[in-house]
Amino acid sequence: MSDPIIELKDTKLHYKIGNAVSAMMGLSTTVKAVDGVSFSLRKGESVGLLGESGCGKTSMGRILVRLEEITGGSARFEGDEIGDLKGSDLQRFRSRSQMIFQNPFDAVNPRYSIRKTLEEPLANAKISRSTWHQRIIDALDLVGLGDPEQFLERYPHQLSGGQLQRVVMARALILEPDFVVADEPVSMLDVSVRAGVLNVFRDVRDRLGLTAIYISHDLALVRYVCERTIVMYLGKIMEDGPTEDIVHDPLHPYSQALVAAVPTPHVDQSHDPLPIGGGAPDPRNPPSGCVFRDRCPRAQLRCADEVPQPRRIGTRLVACHFASV
Ligand SMILES: Nc1ncnc2c1ncn2[C@@H]1O[C@H](COP(=O)(O)OP(=O)(O)O)[C@@H](O)[C@H]1O
Ligand SMILES: [Mg+2]
Repeated sequence: MSDPIIELKDTKLHYKIGNAVSAMMGLSTTVKAVDGVSFSLRKGESVGLLGESGCGKTSMGRILVRLEEITGGSARFEGDEIGDLKGSDLQRFRSRSQMIFQNPFDAVNPRYSIRKTLEEPLANAKISRSTWHQRIIDALDLVGLGDPEQFLERYPHQLSGGQLQRVVMARALILEPDFVVADEPVSMLDVSVRAGVLNVFRDVRDRLGLTAIYISHDLALVRYVCERTIVMYLGKIMEDGPTEDIVHDPLHPYSQALVAAVPTPHVDQSHDPLPIGGGAPDPRNPPSGCVFRDRCPRAQLRCADEVPQPRRIGTRLVACHFASV
C-alpha cells in the first residue's frame, strides 16, 4: 500500500477562550475542539467526517489545510509536519490542499466578479497570467457550469446558492490540488439542488483522483460520497471504518444513535432527532472518562473513570469499553 498522504497522531486543537475574570471564576478557558485524534488517509481515499454540530469537524478540517495550528500531537502531509512548512514548501502545500467552505456566500468576496474570484488563487500561486483565462474556463467547466463565459463578469449575488457553491468548488480546484476538505458543502443549499452539487463533487474527485475529507452532520450525505467514515464526538473519534459497515452494523453507541436517526439513509430525506438524551455537547466541560457517557444508553461506572482507547473490532476502530461484534 502507498504511504499515507495525511497522518494524524494524537492531534489536538484547544482554543483559548474567556479572560482572566472567567478564569478566576473557575470557568473553563479551554475548548477542546480536537482532542487527541489519530488517523491516516491514503492517496485517493475519501473519508466522511460525521458528527453533530460542535463536535470539532470544521476545526479538524482547518488543521488539515493549515488554517489553524495544532496545540498538541502531530499532523503530517506527505510526511512533513504541516505546522513546520515554510517558504516555497508552504506555498506548494497551500496550492495542493484546499478547503471548500460551508457557506458559499461567506466564502467569496461579494465585490469580486466571478472572474476575479477565480483569478485570486492563480495570482497568489504566481501562475503565469497568460494561462489564467483558460484555466478559469476549464475550472468552471469542471464543476458543471456550462457556458462558463456567461458567468465571468457576474457577481456572487447574481448567482443561485448552487451556482455559487460550484464557483467555490472551482476556486478550490483551479490550482489542481491533491487533497480537498469539503466542509458541509451542501448544508446551506436548497434540498432540490443538493444532489447536483454532490454529484459534481464526486465526479470531480474521481476524475482528478483527489484525496478528500467530506464533512457532514448527515449520515445520508456521507454515505453517498464516502466509502469510509470517521464518527466524531466532542473532539474525539468514536468509530472509524467502512461506511456501509457503520450504516448496517454500527458498533459505537453514538454511531448507533446516528444510524437510528436515519431509518433509510437517503440524500434528500430529512431525519429524526437523535434517539439519545441530553442536549448538544459542550466541549468546555466534557465529561470525565468517555466524553459520550452522559448521553450513552450503555454507560457504566467504568466509563466515568477510564477514557476508552480506540480498539480494532473487525473492520472498525471503536472507542468504547463495551462495544463488540
Ligand atoms: N476560533 C474558535 N475559538 C474558540 N472556540 C472555537 C473556535 N472555533 C470553534 N470553536 C469551538 O470549538 C468547538 C468545535 O467547533 P467546530 O470545529 O466548528 O465543530 P463542528 O464543525 O463539528 O460544528 C465548538 O464548541 C466551537 O464553539
Ligand atoms: Mg462545522
